[in-house]
Amino acid sequence: MLIFTWMAIAFIWDLLGIPRVRSTEEKEIMATEDQVIMEPSLDFPFLNDTKTVEYVGESKTLLLLRGPPGSGKSSLATAISEKYPLKVAICSAEEHIPQGEKPPFSREMLKKAHTDCQQCVKDACKEAYPIVIVDNTNASLLSVKNYSGIGHEFDYVDVLVVPQTSWILDAQELVKRSSRGFPLEDIQRKLEKFQEPIYPLFYGWFVNKTDSETMRGTGETFYERCLSKREFREEFTKHLLPDASGKTPDPENYFSTENYTVGPVMLHCTAFYSNYGEVSQSEAYATQERVKADNGKAFTIKVIGLLVTPRSLGLRLKLDDEELLLWPQDEVNEVAEGGAEETCDLAAGEKSGPCDDECIITHLSPTCGTGSRAHFSLGSGPGVEAVQTGLDLEEIIKMEQEAVRMKRSHIVIALEDATAVGYGEGNWMVYFDQACSTEALFAGYF
Ligand SMILES: *[C@@H]1O[C@H](CO)[C@@H](O)[C@H](O)[C@H]1NC(C)=O
Ligand SMILES: *[C@@H]1O[C@H](CO)[C@@H](O)[C@H](O)[C@H]1NC(C)=O
Ligand SMILES: *[C@@H]1O[C@H](CO)[C@@H](O)[C@H](O)[C@H]1NC(C)=O
Ligand SMILES: *[C@@H]1O[C@H](CO)[C@@H](O)[C@H](O)[C@H]1NC(C)=O
Ligand SMILES: *[C@@H]1O[C@H](CO)[C@@H](O)[C@H](O)[C@H]1NC(C)=O
Repeated sequence: MLIFTWMAIAFIWDLLGIPRVRSTEEKEIMATEDQVIMEPSLDFPFLNDTKTVEYVGESKTLLLLRGPPGSGKSSLATAISEKYPLKVAICSAEEHIPQGEKPPFSREMLKKAHTDCQQCVKDACKEAYPIVIVDNTNASLLSVKNYSGIGHEFDYVDVLVVPQTSWILDAQELVKRSSRGFPLEDIQRKLEKFQEPIYPLFYGWFVNKTDSETMRGTGETFYERCLSKREFREEFTKHLLPDASGKTPDPENYFSTENYTVGPVMLHCTAFYSNYGEVSQSEAYATQERVKADNGKAFTIKVIGLLVTPRSLGLRLKLDDEELLLWPQDEVNEVAEGGAEETCDLAAGEKSGPCDDECIITHLSPTCGTGSRAHFSLGSGPGVEAVQTGLDLEEIIKMEQEAVRMKRSHIVIALEDATAVGYGEGNWMVYFDQACSTEALFAGYF
């Protein structure tokens, strides 16, 4: 009886196109069902990590559940909505298929279900629910990109989540557990599709809109402080790239995010670029235990300086030990010519291996070796792409090492709360007296 009442309510909500926030009544039913029928693992950072729970509860997050029917997506969705009362909207393509219908569903019906589900996600995002969940059996890359695209429009950070259930690859078991009574052949087909892995464009740490604006403000403040110094302004302006019309640009309005495909509002630090699986090490990276376990986990990212070159403007980060575990160790993504760690050794004297706090011998080399390339891009010079920031930071790190080793000359300017060092050719690094930090969610970007 209870179930029918709930179904009727759900149906009306769906008819009205209102994203459903699971009611208390439903919670009870689902909780009982969960215990009896399913025992999905709740070992996800957004369910078991205090800091992440606190963060996700107030930062727009789009959780895209991926798994065959019966794999525990709905139970997981319920567990999440219980963890975050009144903060979760759940959109399910299947719930947009009329209850009486039995598979196989017609092409038209599926198409409509997806269109309705997309509308549900859009509405939920518009309403600014902190957490929007998409419960979708057909999570092809195209379909995931479609939903994440809606999320990006509304400044949501997307996280693809696969239920951790022991039977997720067991077709017989899935048949028993699937609520819509899919026949075995159907389940097998869906299972095959599910087993084709999908990879994001890249993995990294994502800063939400509010915090991005704050960090951007910090970067701009220090850039303005640089520009207020005659010595900086003269050296830097000499090396600016001409704009499209060939005029000498004005440093105040020099950097732009016009050509950024990701963002441009929201800052991110790329850990691994997988290009939807085109990069051959994608599987090796994605299947690492740490990468899987930390998907959707909140981190505090330390910002230690501002990088200013004629090509890019960016914030320099110092990853902590836990964050470094997510940095690719295989040097493939690490363009560390000549071995960054080796130069770190030289700079640090006795120290070997990647820099730890003790390794910071001078403010001229606050980071080096693995992970030192970590940054948030803030802007690019005319015709320059966003990826340039990372390359410029690598160059600057080499120049820092040289400055320490060879006593190579550089310009030093004291700024309010920072020191700007010019390494020549318009390449500057602004070292903050004190690091600042921001919260960020580790995830893949689709
Ligand atoms: C939470 O879940 C993660 C991801 O599976 C796991 O690695 C971690 O040990 C769990 N933490 C706790 C406190 O249960
Ligand atoms: C971003 O996260 C901060 C906490 O770090 C939170 O106060 C803020 O509301 C969030 N903003 C958005 C748009 O999610
Ligand atoms: C799954 O999604 C793809 C792309 O969005 C679509 O072409 C296909 O028809 C969908 N299949 C089902 C069974 O919903
Ligand atoms: C998602 O797919 C629908 C059609 O199925 C299309 O109208 C819409 O533009 C797509 N959205 C994105 C963000 O790709
Ligand atoms: C954006 O890209 C176009 C085409 O590559 C280029 O002509 C233009 O200068 C770029 N704009 C900026 C601000 O970099």
